[in-house]
Amino acid sequence: MNGKAPHIVQYQGSKRILAPQMLPYMPKRFDRLVEPFAGMAAITIAVAKAGRAKRYLINDLNKPLVDILRLAIESPHELIAEYTSVWSEQFTYKDGSVEHYYKVRDDFNKGNQSAANMLYLLARCVKGSVRYGSNGQFNQSPDKRRHGTSPKNMRLNIDAISYYLKGRAQFMSKDYREVLEEALPGDIVYMDPPYQGVSNVRDCRYYSGIEFADFIDAIDQLNRRHIDFLISYDGKCGDKHYGEDLPSELGLQKVLLNAGLSSQSILLGKKEVTFEALYISRGLQQYLPRPTESEPLYSLFEAPAI
Ligand SMILES: C[S@@+](CC[C@H](N)C(=O)[O-])C[C@H]1O[C@@H](n2cnc3c(N)ncnc32)[C@H](O)[C@@H]1O
Repeated sequence: MNGKAPHIVQYQGSKRILAPQMLPYMPKRFDRLVEPFAGMAAITIAVAKAGRAKRYLINDLNKPLVDILRLAIESPHELIAEYTSVWSEQFTYKDGSVEHYYKVRDDFNKGNQSAANMLYLLARCVKGSVRYGSNGQFNQSPDKRRHGTSPKNMRLNIDAISYYLKGRAQFMSKDYREVLEEALPGDIVYMDPPYQGVSNVRDCRYYSGIEFADFIDAIDQLNRRHIDFLISYDGKCGDKHYGEDLPSELGLQKVLLNAGLSSQSILLGKKEVTFEALYISRGLQQYLPRPTESEPLYSLFEAPAI
């Protein structure tokens, strides 16, 4: 894949930087990519850019996120026009754009959850991190140093994404288990659930948590139905491990992808590289580089530029 894949907005937890290390574990050509925890769909976009799948199923429980993707792909000009209108309005505010952000956030929480409003909030909020309070209200603060991606840059990315995916994508906004029921042999499922550290907390960084036992059961079902998949599941930075490993009975191979220097460790003067775990289903293990030592394998594919 040449160059980074386009993206709509910097979404917290995005796998955009890791995409070039994941694609080699997928077949050269396949029927359909199913992404039950799509977020801003970094892997779907990277796979579509490389022309690897014929069709794509994009799902996220957070419906306004899926609405952004649907409009970006199916009607990019409509989304850009609406975003331009919301984004430009901030400069008409005498007391500064922060106040404008709160006005849009209030509108959103009162029910105006248009794709353009959600996109503006995502583009302007701290770390592109979607946070909801226990009352279900979007409660993330604005990043005071930024006005949010300009419509001009947004257009370049959205036009490219639409070019790769228009007419090939199906959209859903359901719990991942319902989406997995739709998967068929020949599909590749890519799953990137919320981090274990934030699972089961309602007002967490992500929209909802998932139960570990349910997730293991869902993976077991995929194995039984002969459906191949890749799963991003926690990782390690320096000596620190995050989260529980997936059980060995599932027959998955774990590799660690190089996610670059962790910004936290740079702040502490330690310069530790973060690794993110990728679990590979049986049918995709033929694409693994030959291991020289016992688990875990480190990806032999190109690491991201640091
Ligand atoms: C780590 S993020 C995915 C990031 C994505 N890979 C990207 O590159 O943008 C996890 C996503 O799972 C979604 N999610 C949480 N619980 C879910 C559930 N039960 N079913 C489907 N999606 C869920 C969240 O809304 C969040 O967008």
